[in-house]
Amino acid sequence: MAQQVSGIVAMAKGEPVSLQQILVPDPGPGEVVVAIQACGVCHTDLHYREGGINDEFPFLLGHEAAGLVELVGEGVTNVEVGDFVVLNWRAVCGQCRSCKRGRPHLCFNTHNATQKMTLLDGTELSPALGIGAFCEKTLVAAGQATKVNPASSPSVAGLLGCGVMAGLGAAMNTGGVQRGDSVAVFGCGGVGDAAIAGAVLAGASVVVAVDVDDRKLAWAKEFGATHCVNSSETDPVAAIQAATGGFGADVCIDAVGHPEVYRQCFEARDLAGTVVLVGVPRPDMTLELPFIEVFGRGGALKSSWYGDCLPERDFPMLIDLYLQGRLPLDQFISEQIDLDEVEEAFHKMERGEVLRSVVVM
Ligand SMILES: NC(=O)c1ccc[n+]([C@@H]2O[C@H](COP(=O)([O-])OP(=O)(O)OC[C@H]3O[C@@H](n4cnc5c(N)ncnc54)[C@H](O)[C@@H]3O)[C@@H](O)[C@H]2O)c1
Ligand SMILES: [Zn+2]
Ligand SMILES: [Zn+2]
Repeated sequence: MAQQVSGIVAMAKGEPVSLQQILVPDPGPGEVVVAIQACGVCHTDLHYREGGINDEFPFLLGHEAAGLVELVGEGVTNVEVGDFVVLNWRAVCGQCRSCKRGRPHLCFNTHNATQKMTLLDGTELSPALGIGAFCEKTLVAAGQATKVNPASSPSVAGLLGCGVMAGLGAAMNTGGVQRGDSVAVFGCGGVGDAAIAGAVLAGASVVVAVDVDDRKLAWAKEFGATHCVNSSETDPVAAIQAATGGFGADVCIDAVGHPEVYRQCFEARDLAGTVVLVGVPRPDMTLELPFIEVFGRGGALKSSWYGDCLPERDFPMLIDLYLQGRLPLDQFISEQIDLDEVEEAFHKMERGEVLRSVVVM
């Protein structure tokens, strides 16, 4: 029987989000219901409510979550009732061209639950990134639930579900940061600071943090940035060259998703270096670059979907590193809030006051 729970919904473009009653169906074949214990507030939730992703309102927001598997549908084998899981938004299919070529982290046909969660009047909800976890319970495809060590708190584990994984992976997977590399990270929110933490974990010797907000730069330093640049006051390209013996960084990561920032990354990179775009641009943005430089500078311009992660491989490993004290995931949590405080958390995010607000159920 469908269960009635409370959840945070964006009813219309640009309007404040609100607490609504939601019906969560019993899991069908290949689906699970997860009782959510914690869910972080990500900039992508705000993009949804502003109509920046698509127009399929109403959205059930929230997607950086951890919780306990409560019900499993027919044929589910990867998790059992009671398992502690982190939810992911790229459940790989195993069948598409990319999966069959041995690149499941780039799966072209990731899947979500087939049944819909609804409002009480039957209006179908679009769950953010196919999850919808600002909610006491949510319905997902079984492949979206990844079992991790329950010794980690739900608030910390849930971070891996989106922004922190995207940032760590932008450095470690997409950027392929190696021991001794120089790395520059533009935009030091949750995603950018995770890229800094990932670069440090991978052994980078120079890590330059770039932001327009000094508070963010102070936090970036705590994650291991060796140099901090406020790009509203100082030319970041010159500053990155100065920090790298005049060369430029081996890996430049755009964690903002703005053409001007991307261009700064492009110019602040050493010859044959790598630019990684992990920030999400708005659909109306266009990019202009000197074409001869795209050739002449060599190297790679890459985009990072979800940090090129493979949840089954990466989530348990990163939680283990956290539990061993090698990955400071606690530092991302600025505050723990109630479900009905998500709208206020968006404002705090816009004012730059928080890295992550985490809803705790
Ligand atoms: N690729 C993925 O899979 C993925 C996953 C999660 C989030 N994202 C995206 O990553 C981006 C960052 O997310 P977040 O949660 O860290 O957001 P956030 O708002 O917490 O952080 C953005 C940071 O960028 C800084 N900034 C803004 N303009 C800047 C500029 N011109 N130069 C330098 N810094 C600037 C802000 O001060 C802020 O510190 C968003 O676009 C989000 O949608 C992508
Ligand atoms: Zn696939
Ligand atoms: Zn997110």
